[in-house]
Amino acid sequence: MSLLRLDQIGRTYDMGHVQVEALHGVSMTVERGEMVAILGPSGSGKTTMMSIIGCLDRPTSGRYELDGTDVGSLNDAALARIRSRTIGFVFQSYNLLPGTSAMDNVATPLLYQGVSRRERQARAAAALEQLGLGHRLRHEPSELSGGEQQRVALARALVTKPALVLADEPTGNLALHQGQEVLALFQDLHAAGHTILLITHNPEVAAIAQRQVHLLDGAVVDAGIAA
Ligand SMILES: Nc1ncnc2c1ncn2[C@@H]1O[C@H](COP(=O)(O)OP(=O)(O)O)[C@@H](O)[C@H]1O
Ligand SMILES: [Mg+2]
Repeated sequence: MSLLRLDQIGRTYDMGHVQVEALHGVSMTVERGEMVAILGPSGSGKTTMMSIIGCLDRPTSGRYELDGTDVGSLNDAALARIRSRTIGFVFQSYNLLPGTSAMDNVATPLLYQGVSRRERQARAAAALEQLGLGHRLRHEPSELSGGEQQRVALARALVTKPALVLADEPTGNLALHQGQEVLALFQDLHAAGHTILLITHNPEVAAIAQRQVHLLDGAVVDAGIAA
């Protein structure tokens, strides 16, 4: 069973006076353990696709199965549950809580899973140590470099042990060498068995994945071949 299966997914934004068809007829599958890049220019529908795959938004047509569940059949509470259980997000702008330590940032997703405070702290510290930030547990985002902030965000994505890591332009705000460090971490995670979906407009970033799915004007123009 594939981890993700999108079948003829469409997403039209209703602007009242005009309809914007951001995605149409998008089909793709991702197997467990794959690292796949979704590559396309600005406006091609990448963020819309990430929102649907991440259960932050719903398609207006088509069928989406995540980890064997037909996502379209879920109510909002069930959708939020499958999201927090199955997916770890990494965003271009890190989206860390300001004025909050790296450790508490990483521990936050566990709060919604009813994990005890002691275990939250232990798992957050372990995730940060795994990403080379064991010496930055008490630092707040403003006291960290961009690359360090993105590593905190990556630790936060991983702390729930998600089936899928979903990253939208994770190096988009980083200087070259910091971006390369973050990409190397994604490669390590893939080697360790994680399933990763990397969304980017940058072919050099997409090249670290074994397969590139090309998106243009809201449609898949090339689904790549599994390596
Ligand atoms: N919330 C929205 N409401 C209306 N149109 C949107 C919305 N989000 C995206 N779009 C439009 O959908 C298309 C795809 O956008 P997006 O998914 O953000 O592409 P990308 O991430 O590849 O730049 C664009 O034409 C964009 O203007
Ligand atoms: Mg985008």
